[in-house]
Amino acid sequence: MKIQVNARNRAHQFDAAPADKILYAGLSQAIALPYECGSGTCGTCKARRLSGDIEDGWPEAPGRKYLKSPDEFLMCQCTARGDVSVEVASFVQEFEPGVCVPAAVEGRIRDATLLTHDVMQLHIDLATPLEFDAGQFVLVQVPGIVGFRGWSMVNYERNALTLVFVVKKKPGGQLSDWLFSQPRAGTDVEVFGPLGRATFYPSVARNILCIAGGSGIAGMMSILARAARENYFTEYRGDVFFGVRSMKDAFFLDVFSRLREQCGEKLRVTIALSEEGPPACAQADHPQLEFDTGFVHDVAERRMKGRYEGVRAYLAGPPPAVDACVRMLLMSRVSTDNIRYDKFS
Ligand SMILES: Cc1cc2nc3c(=O)[nH]c(=O)nc-3n(C[C@H](O)[C@H](O)[C@H](O)COP(=O)(O)OP(=O)(O)OC[C@H]3O[C@@H](n4cnc5c(N)ncnc54)[C@H](O)[C@@H]3O)c2cc1C
Ligand code: FES
Repeated sequence: MKIQVNARNRAHQFDAAPADKILYAGLSQAIALPYECGSGTCGTCKARRLSGDIEDGWPEAPGRKYLKSPDEFLMCQCTARGDVSVEVASFVQEFEPGVCVPAAVEGRIRDATLLTHDVMQLHIDLATPLEFDAGQFVLVQVPGIVGFRGWSMVNYERNALTLVFVVKKKPGGQLSDWLFSQPRAGTDVEVFGPLGRATFYPSVARNILCIAGGSGIAGMMSILARAARENYFTEYRGDVFFGVRSMKDAFFLDVFSRLREQCGEKLRVTIALSEEGPPACAQADHPQLEFDTGFVHDVAERRMKGRYEGVRAYLAGPPPAVDACVRMLLMSRVSTDNIRYDKFS
C-alpha cells in the first residue's frame, strides 16, 4: 500500500504492509514523521486523513484526546486499508545521515532479575543486530498483551545483539502484571526501534547533567556507558541526579560507584531520596556517591547552583517529574536546545 504524507514543507511517499502502523512504516523508511511516545499516549503523531481508509488499532488510546476532528488519527496506532493520503501540521524531513533508522527485530527474553521489590532488569537477545545511540528507547510487544511499550536501553554498544532494560512495575499495568507474575525467560517478543531524540554524542562537547527518577535512569546509564568508554570525563563534567523514594527503591549503586572510580572526580553522582533522610550506612557503603533528601529536581537545583555553564541536560521519567525539571532548568537559564528528554507517558 502507498502512503502519502503531506507535510508543511513537502510530500513524502512510502510503502506499508497491511499490518504496519503508519508511523512505524514511515520511520523505518527514514522519514522523520512526528512522534514522541510511539505508543498512543502523547498525541504528537496526529495526522489528518485526506483520502483512503484507516483502521484504528486502539480507539481508546489516551492520545486521542488531542484529536479535533473525526478525520484526525494517531499514526502510531493506525494501519492503512489501502492507499491513503494524509496531512501532518509539522515540517517533515528525511533522516539525516548517521541517524539510526528504526526497524522491526525479533527478540527473546534471556533473563529477568529483580533489582528492587518493583524494578526488574531484563536482557533481550535479538535475532539481528540493532544500531542505536546512547539515550534511545525501543518499543516492545509481548505475546498476549495488545500494543507496544516503550523501554529505554541501559547498555550502549554499536550493532547490539542484546538490549538491557530496567522496567518498573506499574500497579494494575497489563504488561507489568504479565512480567512480574511469573518467570518470562525464553519468551519471544517483538522489538521496534531505536526511537527517541534525547541522544548523547561525545561530539556535543559539553558538560553533562542527567536527572532521572526511578526507571528513567535507564537511558542515563546508556549515556554514561558511552561517555565512560570514550573518556569523556577527562575533559567534561558529569552531574547525575537519581531520584527514588527511599533506599529500598535505589538500584545500580554499585554500577555508579564503579563508574565514579573509572571516571574520576569530574563525574558526580547524587542519589536523591524523596521520602527519607539518607541512612548512615548509605554513605559508608557507597563512599564514591553523594546522598541528599528531596525531590530530584529540588536536589539538582540546590547542588547545581553556579554549575550550569556549558551544560547539556538529559531528563527522563514520568511526565510530571520531567516537566518540573524542565521548569527548573529554564529558570536556571539553560537554553531549550540544551534540554533533552523523553517522557515516560
Ligand atoms: C519513551 C518512553 C520510554 C520508556 N522507558 C521506560 C523504561 O525504560 N522503563 C520502564 O519501566 N518504563 C518505561 N516507559 C513506560 C512503559 O512504556 C510502560 O508505560 C510501563 O511499563 C507500564 O506498562 P503497563 O503495560 O504495565 O501499563 P498499562 O497502563 O497497562 O499500559 C501502559 C501503556 O501501554 C500502551 N497500551 C496499553 N494498552 C494498549 C492497547 N490496547 N493498545 C496499544 N497500546 C496499549 C500504552 O502506551 C499505555 O500507556 C517508557 C515510556 C515511554 C513513552
Ligand atoms: S507518538 Fe503516537 S501518541 Fe505518542
